[in-house]
Amino acid sequence: MDKIVIRGGNPLKGVIHVRGAKNAALPLMAAAILADKPCVLHNVPCLHDVFSMDKLLSFMGARIDFTGRYMTLDASGITNPEAPYELVRKMRASFFVLGPLIARFGRARVSLPGGCAIGTRPVDIHLKGLEALGCKINLDEGYVVAEGNLAGASFSLDFPSVGATETLMMAACRAKGLTRLTNVAREPEIESLAAFLNAMGAQISGAGSDMITVVGVDSLDGAEYEVIADRIEAGTFLIAGAATRGDVTVLGANAAHLPAFLDKLREANAEIEAGEGRIRIAAPNGLRAVDFSTRPYPGFPTDLQAQMMAMLACADGTSVIKETVFENRFMQVAELHRMGADIDLDGNAAIVRGVPQLMGAPVMASDLRASAALVIAGLMAERGETAIQRVYHIDRGYERIEERLSALGADIERVRN
Ligand code: EPZ
Repeated sequence: MDKIVIRGGNPLKGVIHVRGAKNAALPLMAAAILADKPCVLHNVPCLHDVFSMDKLLSFMGARIDFTGRYMTLDASGITNPEAPYELVRKMRASFFVLGPLIARFGRARVSLPGGCAIGTRPVDIHLKGLEALGCKINLDEGYVVAEGNLAGASFSLDFPSVGATETLMMAACRAKGLTRLTNVAREPEIESLAAFLNAMGAQISGAGSDMITVVGVDSLDGAEYEVIADRIEAGTFLIAGAATRGDVTVLGANAAHLPAFLDKLREANAEIEAGEGRIRIAAPNGLRAVDFSTRPYPGFPTDLQAQMMAMLACADGTSVIKETVFENRFMQVAELHRMGADIDLDGNAAIVRGVPQLMGAPVMASDLRASAALVIAGLMAERGETAIQRVYHIDRGYERIEERLSALGADIERVRN
């Protein structure tokens, strides 16, 4: 297994291009199941999670061609509405095929995703919503067995779950009549999925607000769509620029997709210039401690919590970070301790006392964003070398991260074990 080795202390300087969003591309690929004709996606990121979804859809009978960032998906050949455990367990987002399979075939057998490093991550809201749409759900040997002809209904989500909103929006496209979903997720990735489904002939309105209405249709056509920029990747590189006291411009990012995050960086004394498709960050006068709580969009994104914690480990003062979206998303803390960070945990709160500097150390990646936090900490460490094991976690969500950071002046390399 590869490891990434970083010798920190170099301020990052320069321009970096953001790739297409992993969390937009995955539901778009699942939505292609609904199309009677081929779909085309542009700006698809080359990530392990995208390859996993490709493998799952191909296993079910779809024909996919993925070259560069261009993907064609022809799901007309799917005859087997089943997603097996050995494929679903590798990536929770595989579960997003359930809604489209039910909507198109009237039946599906999809493995439960199981827990992961950041918590149990149940799917009860997905299943309750599908039952509200008339679906009969049984659990059988770790699989969700679902069947039924979907009919429009009103359903309020217990929590604005991104995945559940996507599952129910896709299922409702083919449910007879009107569906009204409330307390839905409002992330940009929800809006992009709705836009893609509408391009296929769906009738969805309200995506991005807290109520989505869908009028069911009898069939959906192929469509062509461009994957939106990855706001979490953009945020990760902005944090790295500020944390190393550099000067970084992220191209292709949409500042409107990061409202609470950019405000928090400004509060931490970073200097930010946001223009059309570009965000520049510098921190010439140092960084100060800030408090924040993660929230569903448009609040501070949980996917940037770990990276922000790494940056605040050397800020001036004490920061209090509350993780309200996931029950166990402080996996990075033990590893940051090894690098000299002064952090205490109290339930869903992390108290981060700024220290003058971090030290390089051998550390272990645990989940995608905690791993990104360790890369940032390694870039910050002014002494020693940081060797991050289990780099496959990073490769799930960041393309060639060592090459792209090296182009900004980082002393970073991938070492094949
Ligand atoms: C999506 O995951 C993202 N993944 C996650 O990004 C992101 O952290 C998360 O949304 C929140 O923004 C993709 O889009 C592929 P949720 P998802 O359903 O849909 C609870 C990354 O690093 N919940 O919004 O799985 C759940 O346990 C990944 O790129 C239920 O209780 O997240 C969690 O505590 C990590 N029942 C909370 O809701 C349900 O039926 C938010 O989960 C569903 C969710």
